[in-house]
Amino acid sequence: MPEPKHPEIDDLLRENRSFPPPAGLAASANVRDPGVYEKAASDPETFWAGFARELDWYTPWTRVLDWQPPHARWFLGGTLNACVNCVDRHLDGPRRDKPAIVWEGEPGDSRTLTYADLHREVSTFASVLKGLGVRRGDRVALYMPLVPELAIAMLACARIGAVHSVVFGGFSAESLRGRINDAQATVLVTADGGWRRGSVVPLKQMADEALGGTPSIRHVVVVRRTGGSEAPVRMSRGRDHWYHELMQEASAECEPERMDAEDMLYVLYTSGTTGKPKGIVHTTGGYLTQVYATTKWVFDLKDDDVYWCTADIGWVTGHSYVVYGPLANGATVVMYEGAPDWPGRDRFWDIVERLKVTIFYTAPTAIRAFMRWGDQWPGKHNLGSLRLLGSVGEPINPEAWIWYHRHIGGDRCPIVDTWWQTETGAIMITPLPGLTHTKPGSATRAFPGISAEIRTSEGAPVEVGGGLLALTRPWPSMLRGIYGDPERYVSQYWSRWTNDVYFTGDGAKRDGSGFFWLLGRVDDVLNVAGHRIGTMEVESALVDHPQVAEAAVVGRAHEIKGQALAAFVTVKEGTPTSDALVAELKAHVAKKIGVVARPDDIIFAADLPKTRSGKIMRRLLRDIAEGKTVGDTTTLADPAVVAKLKDQYRSVEE
Ligand code: PRX
Repeated sequence: MPEPKHPEIDDLLRENRSFPPPAGLAASANVRDPGVYEKAASDPETFWAGFARELDWYTPWTRVLDWQPPHARWFLGGTLNACVNCVDRHLDGPRRDKPAIVWEGEPGDSRTLTYADLHREVSTFASVLKGLGVRRGDRVALYMPLVPELAIAMLACARIGAVHSVVFGGFSAESLRGRINDAQATVLVTADGGWRRGSVVPLKQMADEALGGTPSIRHVVVVRRTGGSEAPVRMSRGRDHWYHELMQEASAECEPERMDAEDMLYVLYTSGTTGKPKGIVHTTGGYLTQVYATTKWVFDLKDDDVYWCTADIGWVTGHSYVVYGPLANGATVVMYEGAPDWPGRDRFWDIVERLKVTIFYTAPTAIRAFMRWGDQWPGKHNLGSLRLLGSVGEPINPEAWIWYHRHIGGDRCPIVDTWWQTETGAIMITPLPGLTHTKPGSATRAFPGISAEIRTSEGAPVEVGGGLLALTRPWPSMLRGIYGDPERYVSQYWSRWTNDVYFTGDGAKRDGSGFFWLLGRVDDVLNVAGHRIGTMEVESALVDHPQVAEAAVVGRAHEIKGQALAAFVTVKEGTPTSDALVAELKAHVAKKIGVVARPDDIIFAADLPKTRSGKIMRRLLRDIAEGKTVGDTTTLADPAVVAKLKDQYRSVEE
């Protein structure tokens, strides 16, 4: 494979501004010794065991790592409970009455749960789940808005040793059904609805649609969130139960299960290069160790911090850095249910000011939207409580980085640009805020104990320059597999080079100072507004429409979302193409997958450009969608197809 072409990265590498850690922060940071990198590299197992020891274990491990490439087991023989580590262990000291969750609903309602409150709620819901027959190892699906009950349900599952599978509330009924069936979940926890930009997302109605084809589900628990008439709820007798009614009857005591370090904690579905999302499996001991460690060091978390990660819990960022990482550290976690521009474009800054947020972690897409909306919105608020900013999910362009630094961070907060994936479970490449001299646009260095490299497609390491990002040592929070598909685990991640080297799917460059600059995916996975979308999934959704013969989906650059979806579609003989059909196809994809996957552009094509062997040439389509000069077409079966498509695309854009 040729090295990914990214002219913009050459500009990035000319970026020579460097931001040293602020003196005050550096002096009191959780990590101040630059020697940690070398120390961790010389003995990563001891390094990770040090963090694991800061957690509560029932029985200690006998061995830190068993590495039989590509299968790793961490903290062998150790037993612990993730919920106990996130909740119970904070009850003995002053954290007992410290706010654990400070939640705000979109309409402006709010709730604060101390660690003691959280313990009561989680234990009671754990009893509820047990009462519904959920046993250790069973899967529980969660399809919910961003309300405290979602975190409570996750922790309740962890408490009784059940495996949670959170499905983001923006996914469709069909996506929910597919995920429930893949994991054979026995219970679904949902809500009547959730608030988004002043409207109700009718979750229970969508869940009902999904439940038509999910024979494994025995019980459905429904949280009353929106009430009212916006999303009327039909309760199916015997199957459906109101959360608040079950909670009233259940015991507030529930003995936690002693879990093996390698017992499954959760499964989370993510898009890949095939038509079907993969259930990424995370286990207990290693996962908790690394999310705990990275939250403490990357965010420099202190006991008096007010920490806000804006991600939805439906994505891995929410699992690791809204729930498990910060709660394992005993932090005060802010959660906000709704949209950043509701009712005004300063909603986030209003929350930061009112709740005195000190650490703020968001995605570049949001930052670019804030930039576009204008400086006046953050300017209306006192953001002086902030002391550290984070970025995650997609490459951050230097312009957005600088804006974030100035207008949100008041030129005083360090920015940690953190690279990681659903599969890595926790942050892998990142600055350490008390040590790293950051450069706008670079995620800087591998976290201590993590070993990352750039490689050519043939596997040769690249010291300085571009190539494919590889991880060359196992890490505690690595995925342990793909649910129900052991072969795909090996072929997807561990087969590009030798079976002990993990292929990330990302292209990256490394500069002379050893810093990494992430370039985006090199496979058929797109990153739209920080959300992973597989082109194959969208293509399958499109060809599922009765009028579509063939479809090819590519990503094109988008000013705010990073990438946007462009779909080239050929319709069946005799089908007239129209704006109405464009709208119908977009709606069809939203219905099949969810609104996150709705294409931005649909271009009808008489033919798709193909090689003589019949392979669609996506590279050409990408060039067309980005309005670039079309590259080499010599292998095309019919070069005239490209010229025609270019004309059509231009007319769509105009
Ligand atoms: O392409 C990388 C991009 O997001 C992908 C992982 O997506 P997902 O599993 O949904 O997890 C997102 C949140 C961790 C990666 O393969 N990505 C994530 N963080 C960054 C990034 N790209 C550049 N810079 C980042 N900081």
